[in-house]
Amino acid sequence: MAARKRTLPAGTTKPVPEKPKPVTHQTDPPIRPAKFTTILKFFLIFSIPYFYLIFSHYNIDYELKKPILINAVISFIGFLITVRMIPVASKYVLRRNLFGYDINKKGTPDGSIKVPESLGIVVGIVFLVVAILFLFNYTPDSNWLVEYNAALASICFMILLGFVDDVLDVPWRVKLVLPSIAALPLLMAYAGHTSIIIPKPLVPYVGLEILDLGWIYKLYMGLLAVFCTNSINIHAGINGLEVGQTVVIACAILIHNVMQIGASSDPEYKQAHAFSIYLIQPLLATSLALLSYNWYPSSVFVGDTYTYFAGMTMAVAGILGHFSETLLIFFTPQVLNFLLSLPQLAGIVPCPRHRLPRFDPQSGLLTGTNDGTLVNFFLRQFGRKTEKSLCILLLIFQAICCGFCFLLRWCLAGWYK
Ligand code: UD1
Ligand code: MG
Repeated sequence: MAARKRTLPAGTTKPVPEKPKPVTHQTDPPIRPAKFTTILKFFLIFSIPYFYLIFSHYNIDYELKKPILINAVISFIGFLITVRMIPVASKYVLRRNLFGYDINKKGTPDGSIKVPESLGIVVGIVFLVVAILFLFNYTPDSNWLVEYNAALASICFMILLGFVDDVLDVPWRVKLVLPSIAALPLLMAYAGHTSIIIPKPLVPYVGLEILDLGWIYKLYMGLLAVFCTNSINIHAGINGLEVGQTVVIACAILIHNVMQIGASSDPEYKQAHAFSIYLIQPLLATSLALLSYNWYPSSVFVGDTYTYFAGMTMAVAGILGHFSETLLIFFTPQVLNFLLSLPQLAGIVPCPRHRLPRFDPQSGLLTGTNDGTLVNFFLRQFGRKTEKSLCILLLIFQAICCGFCFLLRWCLAGWYK
């Protein structure tokens, strides 16, 4: 409706509009401080074997070791910046009413606190800055430059779509297709090989040692990106689980890459794994910073911005590093969670907005519900648990699956490929 113009009587002066009062936000208390002790434990468990492999176990060329270490140093600076930025960004997202209630604390005082949501946006931005600064590592004629730029474009697009999802809360069936849009820059720019090595036991049946899949390979890349992003997003809802699983998988990817670089003499193969390290080190560093605030009891929530960003970064690293089969074995808990979720995702069984356990405020324990998730399955199998111990159990399971993958690769080495 158009506003009517008011005419002032003759002789009167135009009233001076009242100055808008500054909006005060004294109602938002500062978030709880970061839990650095927990992060230090995570970091030490991983970094000791990782740096041992790089510096002592394998004889890695200085030419390759140097960029890896430079990348590690920039990533560490990224960690410090992320730790500093999260409390600042938390204030801003709360002002914009971007918050959630901690469902697994409903009925306790913590259940009524507004927890800032979507802090994955800080992680995503710092990650992109670190990754863009690292472009200095590539000369303009490098073959890897196009792929590196395409990878960054896809990750950046995913961060945008994740944030859109957090702000607009799109229906979850639409969420499923968002990563396929974000993967487009990667799929269109990808100029690497599209062939796969047929596993030795299958060669007599297929009649080929190498099979060129052409466009089917690109379809596979797109599907992998959709799977990695969504599978992290639906294995969630417990404080620390979204970031914790990413941290464990990222550690496994880094160790796998170093082992492959150390054991190979093919420069192209080594470059592919180094490429993956350049993406995963900043992911791990910035994720650890987020985990220090998201660990139980969460001071901030990560949002779909983070789950999509983390899934896409790992998918891109796996695709361009050419170890997608290994990546899928690292994702075993996510595969199991996806299989358990299928009846609800397919609409055969009703799917509520949140498929979380039932919280008992008296005992502080979670009980598994009939919703098809790994979280509920673990609670049904191992009995009622506190949120923190359930998260630790699920992360130990994630680490065991990654360890199993290393064992499987070691057993099948030479026989399988
Ligand atoms: C996915 C899951 C949904 C699960 C949700 C939890 C499917 C199809 N969807 O939905 O079942 O409930 O993730 O993230 O499997 N929250 C907590 N504690 C946490 C983390 C999140 O209570 O540690 C709650 C908060 O209210 C937060 C909300 O979950 O605001 C975020 O949910 P969102 O990420 O938007 O859910 P989806 O990804 O759509
Ligand atoms: Mg989510």
